[in-house]
Amino acid sequence: MSATVLIGTQWGDEGKGKITDLICADYDYCVRYQGGNNAGHTVIANGHELALHLVPSGVMYEQVTPVIGNGCVIDPKVLLEEIDKLEAEGISCARLKISAHAHMIMPYHVALDHAAEDNRAHKVGTTGRGIGPCYQDKAARIGLRMENLLDLERFEAHLKAVLPGKKCLLSEFYGQPTLDGDRILADYSGYAARLRDKICDTGLLLNLALDAGKQVLLEGAQGTQLDLDHGTYPYVTSSSCSAGGATVGSGIGPTRIDRVLGIAKAYLTRVGEGPFPTELDDEDGATLGSAGAEVGVTTGRARRCGWYDAPVVKYAAQVNGLTELALTKLDVLSAFAEIKVCVDYQDGRPVYETLPGWQTDITGCRSFEELPMAAQAYVKRLEELAGVPVTIVAVGPDRAQTILR
Ligand code: GDP
Ligand code: IMO
Ligand code: MG
Repeated sequence: MSATVLIGTQWGDEGKGKITDLICADYDYCVRYQGGNNAGHTVIANGHELALHLVPSGVMYEQVTPVIGNGCVIDPKVLLEEIDKLEAEGISCARLKISAHAHMIMPYHVALDHAAEDNRAHKVGTTGRGIGPCYQDKAARIGLRMENLLDLERFEAHLKAVLPGKKCLLSEFYGQPTLDGDRILADYSGYAARLRDKICDTGLLLNLALDAGKQVLLEGAQGTQLDLDHGTYPYVTSSSCSAGGATVGSGIGPTRIDRVLGIAKAYLTRVGEGPFPTELDDEDGATLGSAGAEVGVTTGRARRCGWYDAPVVKYAAQVNGLTELALTKLDVLSAFAEIKVCVDYQDGRPVYETLPGWQTDITGCRSFEELPMAAQAYVKRLEELAGVPVTIVAVGPDRAQTILR
């Protein structure tokens, strides 16, 4: 038995979907344990591209059971749309299991996410998917969980108890249109009919699987710097994206985990507001954005781009107890004659080291030795700065465009 945690080491969009899909061939279960459809994970295999938001990235493999764990927040409407889209592309979601304890995103969460963001003096730049308000209700112990779809009478009673407060907040405080409870009940009854067979005790399922010697991959969303506790608060998401969140959000104990794989982009991006010391507002930043196609999968926003920040990844190694690193998008740096890396901070400002570029197409390289010497040196320097071995190097978006070291 063993479980692996795969997490973002930066501000999200490191290529978690690609690496999850790559290594999932060796796993029996692929589990999302936090976040919701604020995530956007891209998987490209054999020219087939998938944009996943809630369904775990291992869904393409027939032997893998995808699981949405208790730590996630689920918008059932969005989940059903995603399932329909995948099935239309010939990818079966029949094996998908959903935790009865995962909280449900309700229409008032989405409305409140927008209203709160519009009224905030310091904007977070949320994805507007209702993530923060849903986790707020979870902590306040007034949330509706997926299990409520299994008993619609209780669902209705719970909704009736919560709705007046939400309506009041929306209309009286935010001056927003109010919501129709009957409409919500009708819509969620429809979702219940389609999802009820997938809802179960996923914690028990995973523990029994581990007991039986199965391999479990816990796929993180967002990244360490967006973690509610360990990130750049308040410019963070509302869940625990770091490795600790994987045990809480899946219901398996920490002693079951023997591998913590951090995903790091070979440069840096961020979507939304908040500090980003190595951000580039110049031509180099624009080159990273265009060569890396840095547009958000969920909201379509342009991602902010900058140089690799080694202290950020070193911090992720510490917070998550990383056992190894996957370095993605190395090919994007082929555009540069010189590449800067932030190696330290002095008086709050980044201290840069300049490394030589390689300016050669590396997307066809399949072994570390095939990479130009300058690219090898770049990887080795980042490895040294992180203090963690780089075991995977991605040189293109496709599953095949990968080097295993
Ligand atoms: P995630 O949220 O961490 O799963 O990452 P996203 O899917 O949001 O963003 C990563 C983007 O980079 C996607 O468009 C991937 O297809 C792409 N990608 C992943 N690895 C590589 C790589 O090594 N090279 C290039 N050029 N693109 C990559
Ligand atoms: P993946 O899993 C990048 C950012 C938002 C915003 C902040 C809070 O694809 O890496 P939220 O809607 O969660 O309350 O927004 O977090 N954010 C992400 N940025 N990738 C993500 O997911 C993100 N999920 C949330 O842009 O700044
Ligand atoms: Mg993403």
